[in-house]
Amino acid sequence: MNQDYVKIFDTTLRDGEQCPGAAMSEDEKLEIAHHLSKMKVDVIEAGFPISSPVQFQAVQRIAREVQGPIIAGLARAMKADIESASMAIAPATRKRIHTFIASSPIHMKHKLGKNPSEVLAMAREAVKISRNLVEDVEFSAEDGTRSEWEFLRELVEAVIEEGASTINIPDTVGYTTPEEYGKLFAFLKSKVKGAEKVIFSAHCHNDLGLAVANSLAAVLNGARQIECTINGIGERAGNTAMEEIAMAMRTRKDFFGIETNLETTHIARASYLVKNITGMVVQPNKAIVGANAFAHESGIHQDGVIKNRETYEIMKPESIGLKSNRMVLGRHSGRAGFKDRIIKLGFVPKDDELESAYNRFLEIADRKKEIFDEDLTALFTEESRKSDQDIYQLTRFEISTGTEKPPSASIEIKIKDKIKTETSKGDGPVDSMFKAIDQATGIHPLLLRLLISPVTEGADAMAEASVTLELDDKRVVGKASSTDIMEACAVSYIDALNRL
Ligand code: KIV
Ligand code: ZN
Repeated sequence: MNQDYVKIFDTTLRDGEQCPGAAMSEDEKLEIAHHLSKMKVDVIEAGFPISSPVQFQAVQRIAREVQGPIIAGLARAMKADIESASMAIAPATRKRIHTFIASSPIHMKHKLGKNPSEVLAMAREAVKISRNLVEDVEFSAEDGTRSEWEFLRELVEAVIEEGASTINIPDTVGYTTPEEYGKLFAFLKSKVKGAEKVIFSAHCHNDLGLAVANSLAAVLNGARQIECTINGIGERAGNTAMEEIAMAMRTRKDFFGIETNLETTHIARASYLVKNITGMVVQPNKAIVGANAFAHESGIHQDGVIKNRETYEIMKPESIGLKSNRMVLGRHSGRAGFKDRIIKLGFVPKDDELESAYNRFLEIADRKKEIFDEDLTALFTEESRKSDQDIYQLTRFEISTGTEKPPSASIEIKIKDKIKTETSKGDGPVDSMFKAIDQATGIHPLLLRLLISPVTEGADAMAEASVTLELDDKRVVGKASSTDIMEACAVSYIDALNRL
């Protein structure tokens, strides 16, 4: 194994989940954590255990079930937080407590109401308590980039003395610039007593669109851990995007002279998973994982790529797990070919899931001539979301709309073993259908978001619908795909109700 490499600390499940609309269920977090382990990230920050019993339980389950990476739990510099984090991560084979306290004048004065020496004492104490519970302790100086450098040096020196082995300097508010952040790392690495014993870590937010550039500047100045999220999700404008960091270091190894251990061929699937679970769309022109990231539209570019890919391609789509030759299945494809493709797409299908997904595949193949990998991924993702505990199932629907009459929808739903039919008018066909479903189920959640996106191109393309509902402070995301947009909307709404 490469000794000098940059560790990837994934915080999709903690900082990523903190952003509006990205809440995930325990099962969904687990699915992402398993995928992160397959990608060989070094650390998974699984959550902030003291923040809620739901968070605690999710961290504990990840610690119990996910092998490979270090499992970290976040804790403020307080005894109760640290003890909670320690209990949650206890089942993990490799575990870390990540404790933090703010170090900038503005945070210390207005948020904590403490002076620098009190903060220093709290940081020391937090690391000491943590080290009594686990070997591996990370300390973060929150709002590090707006802190006084001399105070930061003193603080970092103190926590190293107490046994912290990773020192994270977050750009909490996305304020720094590459040159400034790089110099801060160079300063700490050269001035802090004991710097040679620890790993310095970068944690950047993207408020000025500089998170990736800032993280790379930190690496050039000695940081050997980067904290990041898949698709760059996170507070406000998000965190450093893992896929961009990893591919930048891989593609420009000649410049950075160092890489990560990330299995980059799992990036495309990771991006899809996070998009699908959180309902947070990826902009088409997003680097690495956007739909257009490897698309060549202009004639000159296409001509060049046909003659030699390297004329306009600095990375191969295969390096992030995209296939350049898209495999096509159709109505004559058998079960074996279908199963083989599903496994190659990274799923681990159970027999009953396969059978029902295959039947659904045949239904779709009747409506759509060519079924691409993207269609299969959408189809199988929907299949694997089904559970024995689902209460509602859409059995029939009919929509009536037009310029001359008000939209209305009739739906038939199986509720456990009973069939219920309802009709409703609404502001549009989708609104009518959702109202009819509400009437049938007796549940009236708040619709926060409905997103519809095509899975592939063409008039017969499947559409993927993602519905975010809220009821009694619980927020859920429902998903479905179909060649019929209305059906995708109805089924995703019902999927969300099943989750509520
Ligand atoms: O942005 C930040 O400062 C954080 C810390 C808790 C590490 O997320
Ligand atoms: Zn953060």
